[in-house]
Amino acid sequence: MSHMSPCFYIFILIFIFCAQCSSLYIDSQISKINRNNLSDSSPCPSLNVSTIRLITFDLFGALMLTKSSLQSNIAELLPSLSSSDVERFTNIWVEAYVSYFGKSFPRSQTHQPFLWVIHSSLLQILESLKLSTIVPEDSFTFKSLMKTWSNLQPRPGVVKVLSKLSKKYQLGLLSNGDKDTLQTALRIFPSSVNISSIFSSDYPINCFKTCSAMYAQVLEAVHGDKTQVLHVAGSTYDTHGARTFGIFSGAIDSSAKNTNPSPCFAFDDIQQLISFFNV
Ligand SMILES: *[C@@H]1O[C@H](CO)[C@@H](O)[C@H](O)[C@H]1NC(C)=O
Ligand SMILES: *[C@@H]1O[C@H](CO)[C@@H](O)[C@H](O)[C@H]1NC(C)=O
Ligand SMILES: *[C@@H]1O[C@H](CO)[C@@H](O)[C@H](O)[C@H]1NC(C)=O
Repeated sequence: MSHMSPCFYIFILIFIFCAQCSSLYIDSQISKINRNNLSDSSPCPSLNVSTIRLITFDLFGALMLTKSSLQSNIAELLPSLSSSDVERFTNIWVEAYVSYFGKSFPRSQTHQPFLWVIHSSLLQILESLKLSTIVPEDSFTFKSLMKTWSNLQPRPGVVKVLSKLSKKYQLGLLSNGDKDTLQTALRIFPSSVNISSIFSSDYPINCFKTCSAMYAQVLEAVHGDKTQVLHVAGSTYDTHGARTFGIFSGAIDSSAKNTNPSPCFAFDDIQQLISFFNV
């Protein structure tokens, strides 16, 4: 090598220097891309599923085929109604319930806001359909209609997902329903589904999601440790409420991904929870 000129060595040094600069530049670009992709794919960067202990689920929106179950229950109890009347009945009832989302109820009015809402709206619907005399408030049929909200079929895949999650996590319901309705609704599940905590809207909560008291009771159940709880919502509205309150939450509703603060996931199929939680 002794016959090579010093210029050649200088050239080599400059070449190595430039190569390193450009590789540094490329590294920094790659790490920028990785950072971008991480924040794209993980809107809840501090979420670590290994620290989660309690997973709560919305009942009517996330787990159950609420509308179609209500329709078949109503059709069975009121066989004189045409199928379009059954559909209208169901839609008005569900809309009446939805119109109370986010509302607080004075305790002088009720200690079970869910029952109060579906009871008062049922009276109105029966009156509008001229059924009040056939189905008076104290009749067996009226009471059975009230119970239709606890007689719901699960969405496809729900039993499988909940059975798998039951083995690793404590599961709960976080629903606007009252405790009895929620407890009864769980009877549809086999014993492999262990939903052991029920967070309802009953007094002293006395409000519907997205009031903060609903989410606060879940956080209290894990002694205020936000790393231990995640709420699976059925709608953008509910997951947005949970994220705004400050707990981890995702939705079984792919349209939820465009909300801010963003949900931790926005799936269109509940079975995507199996890989999300590695179960
Ligand atoms: C990663 O991020 C880059 C830049 O933001 C983007 O072009 C690319 O499609 C992303 N890749 C994936 C797999 O999301
Ligand atoms: C996630 O939590 C587990 C259990 O606490 C811990 O061992 C692990 O290091 C955590 N992972 C990250 C990326 O922080
Ligand atoms: C159900 O889950 C709770 C809380 O995780 C647990 O204490 C209980 O033993 C479980 N029950 C069954 C039958 O597995």
